Amino acid sequence: MNRPLGMLAELTYRCPLRCGYCSNPTGRHSRSSELTTQQWCQVFEEARELGVLQVYFSGGEPLLRRDLPGLVAHARRLGLYTSLITGGQGMSADRLADLVASGLDHVQISLQDADAPIADAIAGRAVHRHKLTAARLVKEVGLPLTLNVVLHRANIGHTRDLIDLALRLRADRLELANAQYYGSALLNLPALVPSRAQLDAAETLVQEARDTLAHRLEIVYVRSDLHDAVPKPCMHGWGSRQLTVTPSGDVLPCPAAARIPGLDVPNVRQAALADIWFHSAAFNRFRGTAWMPEPCRSCPLKEDDHGGCRCQAFQLAGDPAATDPACRLSPHHALVRTLLQDAESAPDTLPYRA
Ligand code: SF4
Ligand code: FES
Repeated sequence: MNRPLGMLAELTYRCPLRCGYCSNPTGRHSRSSELTTQQWCQVFEEARELGVLQVYFSGGEPLLRRDLPGLVAHARRLGLYTSLITGGQGMSADRLADLVASGLDHVQISLQDADAPIADAIAGRAVHRHKLTAARLVKEVGLPLTLNVVLHRANIGHTRDLIDLALRLRADRLELANAQYYGSALLNLPALVPSRAQLDAAETLVQEARDTLAHRLEIVYVRSDLHDAVPKPCMHGWGSRQLTVTPSGDVLPCPAAARIPGLDVPNVRQAALADIWFHSAAFNRFRGTAWMPEPCRSCPLKEDDHGGCRCQAFQLAGDPAATDPACRLSPHHALVRTLLQDAESAPDTLPYRA
């Protein structure tokens, strides 16, 4: 069995933004249910012992945790590579200096669009200018900078402008990721899904930019599995390389798995991380290929895409053990075609986080 290489540490689900493509669990999230500083430090120690090499401090907005520099310093002392995944709200020169002094290795900042009024409308708050300032601060202190943009109907047409903005900000990496439909994004799917023509235009631009800018900017493009009828190899396989620890200490094979019925989600307050990784029912439920139904079981691609995404199979087909409906071979694939067809006639209203 593999050991995990990366851990997503979701420090808090609290967030000042209201993006309609948010994939975090919906509902209100209180500070009182979050793990304490000491509990997180224990989690990092157990993660390192288990073999984790990289920790992503994420949220919500991780900068809302005042103890973030201490958490980064502890993870760094253990030898973990530390990445901050932030919307940039709460980032200042002083705050960043604290994080650099703590040993932070990398920062990823999310942008909503290249154009300030559109970006602010998508976020539900005037945030864009501050994000640009945060990105410049990151470059000034010499940390590697990734910009992340979730693509959807309202911004995918601005792909060229997003690439130009990444160049102006001297980003090292631009991640253009088509929305993944979990949490609020699933509820807002009809308003978010782009058209096939929009996707084709964006993919052509990305390819051209990759050809000409390879030496200046790495561009990562995450395709839309729904449109491609090709399932994504979600998480590189269930319980294979990554784990997620939620703000309250639940441990999940992927960030969306808590909604899968009967998963019996383990928690770091009750069990050691190694025990959870190797022995929990939740992490073993969809490991390997033995659980697969047809057509996955006899498919030559099953070791490559792992049967797609378990959460998507549950959300769309009601069965987490089904072949991912995104796959053209799935008996449930018609559900995806219908979703996309219905979305074509959905109004262009900008949705917000539920
Ligand atoms: Fe992947 Fe299963 Fe589809 Fe084959 S049938 S391509 S293994 S999801
Ligand atoms: Fe959970 Fe894909 S998001 S398995």
